[in-house]
Amino acid sequence: MSRSAHPAGPRHADVLTEGHYTAPPTDLNALDAKVWSRTVTRGPEGVVSMGGIEVTRLAEEFGTPAYFVDEADFRARCRAWRDAFGTGADVFYAGKAFLSRAVVRWLHEEGLNLDVCSGGELATALAAGMPAERIAFHGNNKTEDEIHRAIEVGVGRVVLDSFQEIVRVSHIAERLGKRQRVQIRVTVGVEAHTHEFIATAHEDQKFGIALAGGEAAEAVRRALKLDGIELIGIHSHIGSQIFDMAGFEVSARRVVQLLAEVRDEHGVELPEIDLGGGLGIAYTSDDDPCEPHEIAKALSEIVTRECAAAGLRTPRISVEPGRAIVGPTAFTLYEVGTIKPLEGLRTYVSVDGGMSDNIRTALYDAEYSVALVSRSSDAEPMLVRVVGKHCESGDIVVRDAFLPADLAPGDLVAVPATGAYCRSMASNYNHALRPPVVAVDSGAARVIVRRETEEDLLRLDVG
Ligand code: LLP
Repeated sequence: MSRSAHPAGPRHADVLTEGHYTAPPTDLNALDAKVWSRTVTRGPEGVVSMGGIEVTRLAEEFGTPAYFVDEADFRARCRAWRDAFGTGADVFYAGKAFLSRAVVRWLHEEGLNLDVCSGGELATALAAGMPAERIAFHGNNKTEDEIHRAIEVGVGRVVLDSFQEIVRVSHIAERLGKRQRVQIRVTVGVEAHTHEFIATAHEDQKFGIALAGGEAAEAVRRALKLDGIELIGIHSHIGSQIFDMAGFEVSARRVVQLLAEVRDEHGVELPEIDLGGGLGIAYTSDDDPCEPHEIAKALSEIVTRECAAAGLRTPRISVEPGRAIVGPTAFTLYEVGTIKPLEGLRTYVSVDGGMSDNIRTALYDAEYSVALVSRSSDAEPMLVRVVGKHCESGDIVVRDAFLPADLAPGDLVAVPATGAYCRSMASNYNHALRPPVVAVDSGAARVIVRRETEEDLLRLDVG
């Protein structure tokens, strides 16, 4: 469609204040290395590639919408986390961000451990050969069957989330003739999201056992009495998409304080602490995440300092990054279908996916970037809202962004940093077929999770 049919739309500050951007980017063809995975480049002809394969070829071979994950980038991030923490600490990848058999193999090969939070995640991990002792099993309401299976296969640790579970896990382990290594998940009264953290009054949530009021100390008391479990440490997870290490600092201090209380009361120094995940990534150029080595340094310094102050041996630290490993490694590729300019407001660009492949914008008001990737363009920036094809006006993929004003149906656009919590939270709303995940590496692309088919949908419908 001609550019005149799609006027550039307003670029005035009054319209933009509502959204994320304060000004259109100077070069719409540029790909900010902060939000695009390592091997993504725009070639001389203007077409964007991942791992040396042009998106036009990827779309032809695998269709759209589809998630493309940069395997080299994924592996490099695993290594960066592993190397940053060294041999004195453990990195558990949080499988909830995205899990598949290929991912489990990559993790295994790169020396990471795995945090799972359901029987399904556990089954995927085991099916792909992750040694059970390198798996941590989480969840605020694990079923008896899940606990039974986790203990039976020999997971390295079960993270206990409630008073009931302390007893439940111990009994099941005893029935199986085992002693299960466990951590207790505590809520430290810190909630951190993005650039803010709040250090009081966040016990009001379903996860964990509160440090406040001596609840966690009581949980430790009970756990130490039971024969089916061996308490190896304390676990804390404070939030999501965190950039500010101050929340971790408060959390580590409070956990170490509990370790000191446990030592004083029971004469036991628990050997491990887990500080959870939640480290932020760049979804747009405005985000500035920390590097793994900075995070590792900050966390180990905090823990070492606090333990020295309390006269404790420094426990073994573990962390559980999910988003920070897989998030930046993937983009979602869409084809533009319809374009609706609203004079004086914005232009709606409808793509062939939507809230079924990325619920984060609708659910959390998450911000994303977007780029025209099947060609470059020198057209003026046009303020757009990228929306999906679902029957819901909240079906928004990218709330506010700029795309070239000559955008036309058939163009391919990509939304970067969709590796975490997009495919794993995908749905079949409107009987959408969930998109495939394609791993791209050094000029080769292969499907690691295939696209759903109508047969898949109908197979479940047995009525
Ligand atoms: N460990 C525990 C105990 C967790 O609950 C979580 C995330 C993680 C680790 C990994 O957090 P990450 O490093 O990936 O931020 N669906 C939301 C995120 C929910 C996270 C829940 N727990 C989103 O799309 O932003």
